[in-house]
Amino acid sequence: MTVETLHDKFVYELQQAYYIETQLVDVLEEMDQTTADEELSNGFQRHQRETAEQARRLEDVFEALDERPDAWQCHALDGLVEDHSEFLEDAAADDDLIDLYNVGAGVKVERLEISVYEGLLNHATELELPNEVTEPLDETLDEEEATLTELEGAMSGSTIQQLFGRLTG
Ligand SMILES: [Fe+2]
Repeated sequence: MTVETLHDKFVYELQQAYYIETQLVDVLEEMDQTTADEELSNGFQRHQRETAEQARRLEDVFEALDERPDAWQCHALDGLVEDHSEFLEDAAADDDLIDLYNVGAGVKVERLEISVYEGLLNHATELELPNEVTEPLDETLDEEEATLTELEGAMSGSTIQQLFGRLTG
């Protein structure tokens, strides 16, 4: 698409958000499958279901704008996914290290998503877009922030602390 106005830029970035959410449905499944710790893996599973709903919510936003729900490639997400695969395939020699990497990768992805949704909401305010557009975006931003808090909590929680204990013991 050609971006000539702020509204075009908003739609362009909305398409990138849609790319991120739809790609993440598969990525989170892989993270769930490669995480050995059950509690951490359940967290990825929960977030995968939430992500499928976030993708669906974006379809409502496209509809409210009378736009087709297209996905525009987000290289930042692709880079994170590539880093993740490379670590698992070529570097990690231990389940604990993979679990630790997965939690850190989750934090990176959440920070990216939060930046994307904050940017969208900022433009939506400038463009005076209706509630049908801003409410779903706000709802998803709240969920992403809650997930980030959960992941950061896991970093200092007992599961990761035990894992650090094994890795430094
Ligand atoms: Fe998400």
